[in-house]
Amino acid sequence: MAGEQLLKVQGVETYYGNIRALAGIDVEVKKGEIVSLIGANGAGKSTLMMTICGSPQARTGSIIFDGQDITKLPTHEIARLRIAQSPEGRRIFPRMTVLENLQMGAGLDNLKYFNEDVEKVFVMFPRLKERQSQRGGTLSGGEQQMLSIGRALMARPKLLLLDEPSLGLAPLIVKGIFEAIKVLNEKEGLTVFLVEQNAFAALKLSHRAYVLVNGKVTMSGSGKELLANPEVRAAYLEGGRH
Ligand SMILES: Nc1ncnc2c1ncn2[C@@H]1O[C@H](COP(=O)(O)OP(=O)(O)OP(=O)(O)O)[C@@H](O)[C@H]1O
Ligand SMILES: [Mg+2]
Repeated sequence: MAGEQLLKVQGVETYYGNIRALAGIDVEVKKGEIVSLIGANGAGKSTLMMTICGSPQARTGSIIFDGQDITKLPTHEIARLRIAQSPEGRRIFPRMTVLENLQMGAGLDNLKYFNEDVEKVFVMFPRLKERQSQRGGTLSGGEQQMLSIGRALMARPKLLLLDEPSLGLAPLIVKGIFEAIKVLNEKEGLTVFLVEQNAFAALKLSHRAYVLVNGKVTMSGSGKELLANPEVRAAYLEGGRH
């Protein structure tokens, strides 16, 4: 149901050795929302996504997903709770075909839905249908990004985590991918937590957003509010990718 809390990150600190990458993060995502996290290189965006997935684990604070404390769960158990991630740099399986990559995403739990779900992915990304027998590693950057998102969707996620889906892609492809996210959210009620450096596109798409600076949330608000905010404009929008 819309409005119900799905993810609550509270007071989370994450370290790499002695270096604190997240310095007490509070973030919330409600069912049916698209929430984005914007911030400069090294702010800790990917670290937050990875911490939600359990690797690295939060040293302090808590992460509650769908009413369950997942802070100390191993990554494979978190994945089974239907949090799917399309990580930064895509990380598809390069030697497997497009179809095999999608099978990996579905896992054993969802094989009975495979034909139905794969058809949905192909409707969203017709390019993948044309290339279903091609090896992942030979796809173009944009096609690999589509495959990464498609693979995450095959897991039938309650929460889709996307880390920089626009990275390195041509504007037209970026537009297509953001449009696909919007349709999934509106038609299927998919909840999305999105990390983006392309602040303009992310804020336009999102119901709410957080700004991350040096491992801390410095601002939050609706996508519209942040788009209009002078500090956000100066730091992330002026001369940016829009
Ligand atoms: N495996 C690691 N070991 C040590 N330090 C790391 C590791 N991964 C990330 N860091 C550091 O943690 C900080 C946050 O990195 P992170 O990758 O989360 O940033 P980001 O906001 O995703 O940046 P970008 O926009 O460049 O992807 C950076 O200072 C980075 O150097
Ligand atoms: Mg990153």
